[in-house]
Amino acid sequence: MSELSLKTIIFPAAGLGTRFLPATKACRKELLPVVDKPLIQYAAEEAVDAGFEQIIFIVRKGEKSIARHFSDVPDLRQKLAKTKTQLEVDALTRTIPSSVECRYVEQSEPLGLGHAVWLARSFIKEEHFAVLLTDDLIDGGLHGGCMTQMMELYKKNKCGAIGVEVVADSETKKYGIVCTEDTSAKVSKIITIVEKPSPEKAPSRLGVVGRYILPTSIMSVIENTEHGVGGEIQLTDAIAATLEEDRIDAYRFDGVRYDCGSKLGHLQANVAYARKNKELGADFSNWLSNEVM
Ligand code: UTP
Repeated sequence: MSELSLKTIIFPAAGLGTRFLPATKACRKELLPVVDKPLIQYAAEEAVDAGFEQIIFIVRKGEKSIARHFSDVPDLRQKLAKTKTQLEVDALTRTIPSSVECRYVEQSEPLGLGHAVWLARSFIKEEHFAVLLTDDLIDGGLHGGCMTQMMELYKKNKCGAIGVEVVADSETKKYGIVCTEDTSAKVSKIITIVEKPSPEKAPSRLGVVGRYILPTSIMSVIENTEHGVGGEIQLTDAIAATLEEDRIDAYRFDGVRYDCGSKLGHLQANVAYARKNKELGADFSNWLSNEVM
């Protein structure tokens, strides 16, 4: 393991999705659509745009629907080709380029995000790897995807990075919260990280969002991490334990994040993405201002 490059990204997608029940009883949270694309496809496009060559999906035991979404469907393509151009058919069916290697690893029990990440350890050959939580949908707009921004940062700094944004006092309990050398800087070295602290105990208001570049050495740290908040093996605890050895920066990304793991965030994402959708944006915005506002 000597190459300093970043090729692998992990999509943990084996959680229970309890905040979205009953929608997530038979349908994976990661497959919930925002307008016409499932969350996990936005994630895959962000990863592909950033240049990742391997995606490791951590899925629940027996889960096949995510792999099905990313598999080729020749019959559907043939049918669409009768009425649509090749470009249109590609846009509707080619969910991930064939040059990107997709691997599926089952997590037999939801033992926590740290455990889910650890399950991908044998596929990582480089010094660092990335993790993307697909329910954090980030619209980077003209700045490009959040992972593209972080990849640029990695090329410059060659160290770990975690996407962060300022959260309200009442929200610290929902996030990993970091303390950095300079809390107002766009990029700053993380000194400590705490999982879901109360506002009184939070070391800052910088909340972790679902975008990480981590040193591969963290895998052995996770192995020795005790069960933390909620009885789960927390990625945050392993990151905290690794900070003395490895530099990890907090990165205040450019763009807007939608917490699509919550109903409110998912609704907000649908409205925002529908308004800027080429096909229905104008009609939807009209309807919104005339009928709803
Ligand atoms: P969440 O904290 O959002 O949990 O996990 P959840 O189970 O998905 O949803 P709620 O809170 O019950 O509604 C953050 C990410 O980590 C993955 C989830 O799939 C999600 O992408 N995860 C979590 C796993 O893959 N395995 C786990 O054991 C826990």
